[in-house]
Amino acid sequence: MNNMTSPPSKSKNSRDELIEKMDYYFSKERETLQSSYRLKLKKESIDFFIKTKDGSSTLNSPDFDGKIETMHNSNGAITESFEKFVKPFKNSYFKNIDNDDRLKNKENSYFKNIKKEKLLESKEISNEKLKNLKYKEDIAILDICSGLGYNSAAIIEDFLKNVDKTCEKVPKLSVDMVEISAETLAAGILVPSPIKSHEIVKKAIESKLIDESYLALKLEKEDVPEDVAISIHCEDARETVRKFADNSYDGIFLDPYSPAMAPELCTVEFFKELKRVIKDDGIVATYTLAAGVRYAFIEAGFYIGEGPIFGRIAGGTIASLNSDNIIKNISANDEKTIALSDAGIPFRDENLDLESFEILNNRKNERKNARHSYKLSSAVQTPIFLGKEIKDKKLKRRILRNLNKVNISDLKSEEACFIISPQFKYIQDYSAKYKFSKKFENKSKYKFNNNLKNKNNFKNIIKFNLKNNTKSNLKGFLNHNYKSNSKDRIIEMEKRLKSINNYEFLKE
Ligand SMILES: C[S@@+](CC[C@H](N)C(=O)[O-])C[C@H]1O[C@@H](n2cnc3c(N)ncnc32)[C@H](O)[C@@H]1O
Repeated sequence: MNNMTSPPSKSKNSRDELIEKMDYYFSKERETLQSSYRLKLKKESIDFFIKTKDGSSTLNSPDFDGKIETMHNSNGAITESFEKFVKPFKNSYFKNIDNDDRLKNKENSYFKNIKKEKLLESKEISNEKLKNLKYKEDIAILDICSGLGYNSAAIIEDFLKNVDKTCEKVPKLSVDMVEISAETLAAGILVPSPIKSHEIVKKAIESKLIDESYLALKLEKEDVPEDVAISIHCEDARETVRKFADNSYDGIFLDPYSPAMAPELCTVEFFKELKRVIKDDGIVATYTLAAGVRYAFIEAGFYIGEGPIFGRIAGGTIASLNSDNIIKNISANDEKTIALSDAGIPFRDENLDLESFEILNNRKNERKNARHSYKLSSAVQTPIFLGKEIKDKKLKRRILRNLNKVNISDLKSEEACFIISPQFKYIQDYSAKYKFSKKFENKSKYKFNNNLKNKNNFKNIIKFNLKNNTKSNLKGFLNHNYKSNSKDRIIEMEKRLKSINNYEFLKE
């Protein structure tokens, strides 16, 4: 905090200038105990926030080596909170209630023509229904990188609207907000509140900043209601999470800047901490779909899936210790990229104390060592072409060069098909579930048959497994084709690529 004697001039709409202004006006508030400084700052700060498409405001990130991001999605900051965090949380939290409900109503509802198994299988809850489901038990949310407090505000808004007050013991919502930057928290009380419950968050932030001697006056009007408890932790989330008890949270909202800027919150070791503090049936929701982050979740022990799509062509990531919480698998191409290429090498931070640049450099080196050795190169999206035709001759040459380096002789060779075969059953399930055209479904069935029967690959796979005296492997392979989740397929494909390398399958 700097103690300036005159207000800084307003020339550019930047975060740094807002922080300078805050430092000046808040120091005046502390010095004089007059409310006028905060009120003036609230008016002047409006110009430093950036409007997103739904009318809610965001702020720039600090400068990371010349790169600046905004804190939220330009398509709508507060909409993003509901879509990417609250919605997937509720979908998993209410999954059983919803299915029971559907089954009960089977006879007299529009579900009556659907088979019972299909009803149970369908885990996605309609938006309409989701909005009105009632909270009947206490909920604990961990909001990591709470920033301006939108994600917390969104879950509070939903909870207050839907808490079932007729319960004998009225449920409570507790939210732990973790934010490293006091200035960002303070900006949270200046930003125009996009929803009513954000005013509650402002009150909690104000109390925290008074405790930290950053503010002096209680000016926020909206009190925190009795059935909501908000705790704010202003420090590096790696430090904070270590202090939390095991098995504590129903939902974790993880909203850091991109992995290139904040890799310390995307590491295997940090996710192991999240695994410790999350309840067995809880979910982590995060907006990123980076291969290294998804693999880190898997290595830490989570199942992963794709989150709701908002403002992009693909959704973020949902992670849970319970595979039933995964409503949508990640795409087949993403699975291959994560399992088989160096892009899937995760971020690591053994003692949870490395600087961002160290984590990035270590990963760069690990990727370099893995590439062309036990992982395919991610260049030109090599892994996604396994089992496919490539018309472009130049591209084909490049892909083949990459494949040959890890002992895969051709795009549709036996070993190529062996590596990716855990995906075939999945492609069929996926196409049926998401109602792809019949043409697509037939094509994937054809691929399955073509690869496993017509080309005798199935026999070869069995031969390969028996030759290596791994009967259990064979059983694993057969079972595997009847499972349907990304984590198992990724682990299996990765293992198969390694076995091809170790046994030098081709050369025998
Ligand atoms: C994308 S913004 C989050 C926006 C926020 N969820 C909201 O509702 O406004 C990322 C936030 O992470 C915070 N952050 C960065 N590194 C952190 C760390 N190691 N621990 C805790 N917070 C961190 C930043 O200060 C920033 O406020």
